[in-house]
Amino acid sequence: MLFFQRTKWLTDLYRNSSLYLCRCNSNKPRNVKDKLKNGPGLKEFIIASSEITEPYVLDPPNIPYLTNYPQIAETRKVFFDVYGCQMNLNDTEIVWSILKKNGFEKTEVEEEADIFLVMTCAIREGAESKIWYRLDHLRGFKRRRALSKNRQKPVKIGILGCMAERLKEKLIEKEKAVDVVAGPDSYRDLPRLLALTDSGQTAVNVLLSLDETYADVMPVSLNENKVSAFVSIMRGCDNMCTYCIVPFTRGRERSRPVTSLVEEVRYLAERGVREVTLLGQNVNSYRDVTQQTGATDTQLAKGFKTVYKTKKGGLRFADLLDKVSAIDPEIRIRFTAAHPKDFPDEVLEVISDRPNICKLLHLPAQSGSSAVLERMRRGYTREAYLDLVDRVKQKIPGVGLSTDMICGFCGETEEEFQETMSLMEIVDYNVAFLFPYSMREKTTAYRRYKDDIPEEVKKDRHSRMLELYRRKCQALNEAEIGNTHLVLVEGSLKKTGQIIGRNEFYLRVVFDQAEIVSEDNGRRLVKPGDYVAVKITGARSSVLSGIPLYHTSISQFYREVSWGERSCLKQI
Ligand code: SAH
Ligand code: SF4
Ligand code: F3S
Repeated sequence: MLFFQRTKWLTDLYRNSSLYLCRCNSNKPRNVKDKLKNGPGLKEFIIASSEITEPYVLDPPNIPYLTNYPQIAETRKVFFDVYGCQMNLNDTEIVWSILKKNGFEKTEVEEEADIFLVMTCAIREGAESKIWYRLDHLRGFKRRRALSKNRQKPVKIGILGCMAERLKEKLIEKEKAVDVVAGPDSYRDLPRLLALTDSGQTAVNVLLSLDETYADVMPVSLNENKVSAFVSIMRGCDNMCTYCIVPFTRGRERSRPVTSLVEEVRYLAERGVREVTLLGQNVNSYRDVTQQTGATDTQLAKGFKTVYKTKKGGLRFADLLDKVSAIDPEIRIRFTAAHPKDFPDEVLEVISDRPNICKLLHLPAQSGSSAVLERMRRGYTREAYLDLVDRVKQKIPGVGLSTDMICGFCGETEEEFQETMSLMEIVDYNVAFLFPYSMREKTTAYRRYKDDIPEEVKKDRHSRMLELYRRKCQALNEAEIGNTHLVLVEGSLKKTGQIIGRNEFYLRVVFDQAEIVSEDNGRRLVKPGDYVAVKITGARSSVLSGIPLYHTSISQFYREVSWGERSCLKQI
C-alpha cells in the first residue's frame, strides 16, 4: 500500500513536473530535464513521500527540492488583491498565514508595497479581463518604481489562484511584468518562489496535489476584527460539469480531516467570531476518510447520478455539520457551495434540528431544461431537481433557497431558456447568481460543443433572468414586512452611519443605531457581533430595512419558536 502511494506520488510528480519551472534572467526555461539532472535522487523522493502520506501534517512536508532556498534578508511588505469566490478569500488568508510566519508584512497602501500578490479567478472571460486590467496598472507601477530616485526596492508581482493554474508559464510570456506564478496547491512554496525573485529570476509552481488541504495552516484573517470567518473544508472538484474550468484549476476533490476543522472552529469561537461559513466546491460530498465509521452509505437520491464512483465510508457532511454546530450554539453555521446530488435526509435533518445552522440552502440548478442539464453533465433532470426542492421544503419548513443559473449554454434554444425561466417562477429563490455562458478552454464543452449562442442573445437572456429574479425577490422581501428577523450585526454604512447586518438568509438588513434592551434587561448601543431582533419595515430586492427591538442570542430568539410555519422568522 505504502509502495503504491509512493509510486503514485512519483507518477504524479513526473506527470506534472513540466509545470514546475523556474527561469533565470536569460529567460531560458529550466525545465524538468535540468531539474532531474541536478536534483534529488529516488531515495529522497521516497523519504518525502513517506512523510506526506501521514494524514495530519503539522509541519510543512520536507520536500527535497524545496529546501535550502535563500531566506529573505529584509522584511518585505505585501499588498493583496483578491478576485473570485470565497475560496479565494480564504486561500488569501492561508497565503498570508504562511508569509507572516516567514517574516513578511502586510500593507493596504500601494506605495508602501514591495510585493503585489493577485489572487485570481478564471471562471469566466470577464473575471480574467478584470485581472488583465489590474495587471496593466501594476506594470505601470512597477516601471515607475524602477525609475524612481528614492532607491526603493524593485516591485515584484505574483499571480496566484485559478488563472495562474489555467495559464501557467504562459502568464509570464504574455505579461513580462509578472515575477511569480503559483497555483492553488503551491502556496507553501511561496516564500521560496519569492526569494528566487530577489536574484532577478521568475518562478512558476503550478503543481496540483492529490492531498494538499492546508489542514495544518491556521488562516490569518486580512481583517482582524471580522465577525464572520470562512473555513475551507475541502478542495477541488470531481464533478466535471462540461462548462466549468474549476476541476482543471483546483484539481481533484479532497476533504480536510474533521479534527483539524473542529480545532479551527473552536479557535475562531474563542476569538469572538459569530459566523462560520464552511467552504468547498461541493461541500456536501465531504468525506473524512481518515475516520472510518460503521455507517452505511446513503445512495444518491432517485434521479441523481455522478460521473465518478461514490465514495465509501468515512465521516460525511451530516456528521461534520453535527460536530461543528455543537461547538458553540451561538455561532451561526453556513456552507457553500453545495451540489443538489448530495442532500440525503441526514443532512436535511441536522440542518432542521440545529437553530444555529442557517436555513438557506444553495441548490445550484444551472438550468431548468433537462436537455441542457444533460449537455452540462449535471447528473439530474428538471424533475429530479423539483422533487429535491419539495423534499427540502418538507424537511426544513420555512427554508430559503439560493441558486446559480447559466443562460446561453451551447445549443440552448429559446424554449430551453424558457424552461429555466419557468423553474425560477416555480421555485421562490431568495438569492440567485445568474451568468451568461462563457466558453472556457480545456472543458468538455470546449472540445465537444459549439459556443453558438450569439453574445447579444446571451445578454438579452441574462437581462430577462435578472429582471424576473429581481421582481420575485422584491415580492418575497415585501412579504417579510412586519416580521422580526434575527440579524447578526457586521458594522455600519460609511455613507449614512446606519447599522448593517445579515439575516438568516444572508440578506442585508439596515437600521438606525439605537440603545435597545440588552440581555440583562439594561440598555446598550448595537455593535458588530451582536445578535439583534429587528422588525422589518421596508424591503428592496436585495436589502431590507427595519427597527431594532432588543439584543438577543440564537437560543433566546428561537426558544419559543416551533419549527413550524416559518422556522427562521419569528412573528411578533
Ligand atoms: N462549485 C460551485 C461553484 C462553481 S463556480 C457549484 O457548483 O455551485 C460558480 C458558478 O459559476 C457556477 O455554479 C456556475 O453557475 C457558474 N459558471 C461556471 N462556469 C461557467 C462558465 N463557463 N460560464 C458561465 N458561468 C459559469
Ligand atoms: Fe464546476 Fe460543477 Fe464542480 Fe461546481 S460542481 S465547481 S460547477 S465542475
Ligand atoms: Fe474562480 Fe477559481 Fe473560485 S475559477 S470561482 S476563483 S474556484
